[in-house]
Amino acid sequence: METRKSPTEDENAVVTRIIGKHRTRKGPLLPILSDIQKEIGYVSESAMVKIAEALDIPASKVYGAVTFYSLYATAPKGKNVIRVCESAPCHVEGAQGIVEALERTLGIKMGETTPDGVFSLEFTSCIGVCGVAPAIMINDRVYGNLTPGMIPQILAACRATA
Ligand code: FES
Repeated sequence: METRKSPTEDENAVVTRIIGKHRTRKGPLLPILSDIQKEIGYVSESAMVKIAEALDIPASKVYGAVTFYSLYATAPKGKNVIRVCESAPCHVEGAQGIVEALERTLGIKMGETTPDGVFSLEFTSCIGVCGVAPAIMINDRVYGNLTPGMIPQILAACRATA
């Protein structure tokens, strides 16, 4: 049975527990990173240093793995994660205009999170709704047939429920 983070367990203790769970197995780095991402939501710099010390490997190796795999975040993400499809059909149908509208409306760049922690912006590959390109996902919800003019209203609706 999977052990879940308890409300009193701080991030440092979570990292220590996860390292202890995997350190003796073969190839412990990715399972450790995966569990930390799942439980905390990101892998902080201090967690990377702790992992490197525990596994006796260079911190650069841990950092390299975290930044190579897009499923790992290095900072907390916003409450609403906006994923913009950058695969060819969406690109052809105007994804760049959607990106610009999102960045302009939120005042952040792709890969960033708004200072209030409400929105994060990321790219993704095809989300399987190419028939309604250009498309984005906000958390689990898909928005398709988008135009830049639709973005402020969509974001306002998300913010209202944040
Ligand atoms: S290419 Fe964007 S949803 Fe498939």
